[in-house]
Amino acid sequence: MKIFLDTANLDEIRQGVEWGIVDGVTTNPTLIAREKADFEERVKEICELVKGPVSAEVVATDAEGMVKEARHLASLSEYVVVKIPMTYEGIKAVKILSAEGIKTNVTLVFSVTQAILAAKAGATYVSPFIGRIDDVSSDGLKLVDEIVQVYNNYAFETEIIAASIRHPMHVVEVAMMGVDIVTMPFAVLKKLFLHPLTDIGIERFLKDWETYRGSRKL
Ligand code: E4P
Repeated sequence: MKIFLDTANLDEIRQGVEWGIVDGVTTNPTLIAREKADFEERVKEICELVKGPVSAEVVATDAEGMVKEARHLASLSEYVVVKIPMTYEGIKAVKILSAEGIKTNVTLVFSVTQAILAAKAGATYVSPFIGRIDDVSSDGLKLVDEIVQVYNNYAFETEIIAASIRHPMHVVEVAMMGVDIVTMPFAVLKKLFLHPLTDIGIERFLKDWETYRGSRKL
């Protein structure tokens, strides 16, 4: 399972990369706006740090505009993956871009039918949003499970990125389903490390070691 960070914050990305467990990054216009940085500069900086797939989203709403933006974004770095929203125009753009060898991530996916169309158009990645589905009293995890099943039925090559992750149990559940990638906020990634019994265990081992050293007069 690949782990992506869902952030445009350089400190968070640097830390994740230092831990050695971050394979890529996803951004969106909201995350970029939060950083108050130049969009293209920031995308390039993230690519330099991660040296893996970095999703950067188009803002045009027509296929022609999306393709133009996508070609430009893809020229910024070999690591750029162009994020395209799941619309009529978006799917049209994905078909053109995949024929050109430009990597795409179809975003804002909330149904199995949308995921099927993204794969048919040749998307490199598809991003179902779990948390936002849960927010409207529906079942985001069930959607991911269904997409995994359907993609397996037809051996679609599009990789599934479980997105809009809110807590560690989202990560556990999608891992059990065999999802390809999970993209999560830095706060969730940090929580994956933690267990109180680990802290208690370390404290006890160190205390016992000190007692031992004292008894051996080391
Ligand atoms: C994915 O690529 C999106 O950027 C992201 O996961 C959206 O998550 P949110 O619902 O927490 O904004």
